[in-house]
Amino acid sequence: MLHILIKLGGSVITYKDAYPPRANLSCIQRLAQEIRDVWQEGKINLMVVHGAGCFGHIPAHQYRMTQESWHENKRQGAVKIRQFMHDLNQSVVGELVNSGLPAIPFQPSASCLMENKKLLTFPVDIISKYMALGIIPVAYGDIALDTKTGIDILSGDQIVAYIARTVHFDRIVMGSDVDGVFSEDPKKNPHAALIPEITRENATMVLHGLTGSQHIDVTGGMEQKIQELLSLVSTNKTIAIVNALEKGRVKKALSGFDFVGTCIK
Ligand code: IPE
Repeated sequence: MLHILIKLGGSVITYKDAYPPRANLSCIQRLAQEIRDVWQEGKINLMVVHGAGCFGHIPAHQYRMTQESWHENKRQGAVKIRQFMHDLNQSVVGELVNSGLPAIPFQPSASCLMENKKLLTFPVDIISKYMALGIIPVAYGDIALDTKTGIDILSGDQIVAYIARTVHFDRIVMGSDVDGVFSEDPKKNPHAALIPEITRENATMVLHGLTGSQHIDVTGGMEQKIQELLSLVSTNKTIAIVNALEKGRVKKALSGFDFVGTCIK
C-alpha cells in the first residue's frame, strides 16, 4: 500500500475572498471523485488535510487571532472560526462520503497543542490506526491551544509538515490554486515560468522570485509553504504541488503519473 497525504488548499475549496464564507462545492465534489477513482484501485492509504480559505483567514485577521499575547477578542474569534471550520469540514467530508469514500472528520483543536505558534503535539498514532483500517481521516487548519499565546492559528500546512515528519508517507500532494511554483508571480508577469522541480540546489533562487499571497493569509503564503516542504524532503520521497482547480491534475498526482506541476525532491 502507498501512503499518501493530500492537502486541499483553502483557495481551492472556498471562494477565498467571500465573506460570509462560501465553499466551492462543485470543486470539492469533482476532487472527491478524482480521489475516489484512485482509491478504487485499492493501492493507497490516504489522509486528507484541508485549508481554511475565507472560512479561516478572514475571521482570524478580524479577531487578531495570531497576536502574540492573549486578548479577549480571541475567545469570540475561536468560537467563530470553530463554527466556520466545522461547516467547511462537513462539506469536504460529506462530498468524500457521497463519492463512496470512507472519510471521517478529525478536529485538530480538540487534541493539538502549540507552543509559541509551533505545533507541539498532534495525535499521529490515532491517525495511523484509522489509516491502517482503511479509513480516511480528514483534518484541517484550525484554531489550537498555544502555551504562549493562549489560542492561535494552526495551518493545514503545519499539520502536513508535522505528520510527514512523524509518520511514513510515500507521497504528499499539495492541491493549490496555481499550476505549481513559478519563477515570478504569474498573476503579475505572464512570462513567469513554471518550475518543474525544486531541490536544495535551486531553492534559494526559486524563493527569491516569490512574492507574498494576494489575499489575506495569516499563515505565511507560498514562501513559507515551500520552506516547510523543503524541510521534509529527506523524510519523504515525492512532494507534488499541483493546480487542484484544473480537472484531472490531482488524480494524476495521486496516481504518480506525469503531472503538470512542481515536484519537490
Ligand atoms: C489556515 O489554514 C487555518 C485558519 C486560518 C483557521 P491554512 O493556512 O492551511 O489554509 P489555506 O489553505 O491557506 O486556506
